[in-house]
Amino acid sequence: MAAAAALGGLGLGLLRARLRLAAAAAATSAALCRTGHRTPPLRGGVAAAAALPSAGRSYGSQAKEEEELRVRYLDDEHKGIVVLGLNRSHAKNALSKNLVKMISKAVDALKSDKKVRTVVFRSEVPGIFCAGADLKERAKMHSSEVSSFVSRARATINELANLPVPTIAAIDGTALGGGLELALACDIRVAASSAKMGLVETKLAIIPGAGGTQRLPRTIGVSLAKELIFSARIVDGEEAKSIGLISHVVEQNEAGDAAYRRALALAREFLPQGPVAMRVAKLAINQGMEVDLVTGLAIEEACYAQTIPTKDRIEGLLAFKEKRPPRYKGE
Ligand SMILES: *[C@@H]1O[C@H](CO)[C@@H](O)[C@H](O)[C@H]1NC(C)=O
Repeated sequence: MAAAAALGGLGLGLLRARLRLAAAAAATSAALCRTGHRTPPLRGGVAAAAALPSAGRSYGSQAKEEEELRVRYLDDEHKGIVVLGLNRSHAKNALSKNLVKMISKAVDALKSDKKVRTVVFRSEVPGIFCAGADLKERAKMHSSEVSSFVSRARATINELANLPVPTIAAIDGTALGGGLELALACDIRVAASSAKMGLVETKLAIIPGAGGTQRLPRTIGVSLAKELIFSARIVDGEEAKSIGLISHVVEQNEAGDAAYRRALALAREFLPQGPVAMRVAKLAINQGMEVDLVTGLAIEEACYAQTIPTKDRIEGLLAFKEKRPPRYKGE
């Protein structure tokens, strides 16, 4: 809005500037909506790791590094759900340079895959979601390397937040620092009551660097976010639910995947919806939350207009008239 104020001053000028901004935002939304289909989609059941050049090797650290993120396309009644599973057990899923790179590649591939309807982010490691940044690796980095690594992590988490489909973080174990920042970039968080969550960086004399200072207050409110960050507090699932950090809390089960199961149930509720409408709705909400209501409504108007000419909308209305389930194609 600083730009709007500079442009228009008060009154009508400001309003015009706002509308210009809204139009610009809407144009961006339209552009974002259309960016969807550049890179070839990943095929069903194939891990992203397998699509990478050196995946043929079954030896050495390279092959192992590619197993640090498991990408699964689910089938049957879960078709359309893609599960990203952190799998770096020896380091409690700590975000290393490699793991960030793997997440970035996976997110990049998902961005343009029209078959994807919902993404679930989980951990394949029992009791741990993600312990945050890899501080052992960090200790060996030069300070100039640290800031470029953190901006890479921040950019990757941002890309995750901007995925055009719904994203759900299933937190079955500890999520600290960058791990919680990753979860905060998802649209919805579900956690086991035993899971421990916190942004503990202030204890290490630094601040959350991958979106935590921005996404936490937007999620739970300014005052509570400050309290959590100032105290470096770690909360369990019940407390996380009571402050609105997560949407659902579940009792952990024997397999240790109760949050994942809850996330899948949620994802299944999203599957029957019109894919274009889902993408546009997410975009309208994400962009609208960052601006004033008048601008937000202009963004909504622009987004709504994008759904009018779609085949999905015509199919949806026809299916309603004919009292049958719609057959959406994401067009
Ligand atoms: C997870 O990582 C381990 C090595 O730590 C590997 O043996 C296993 O195959 C990986 N799992 C998946 C599903 O990629």
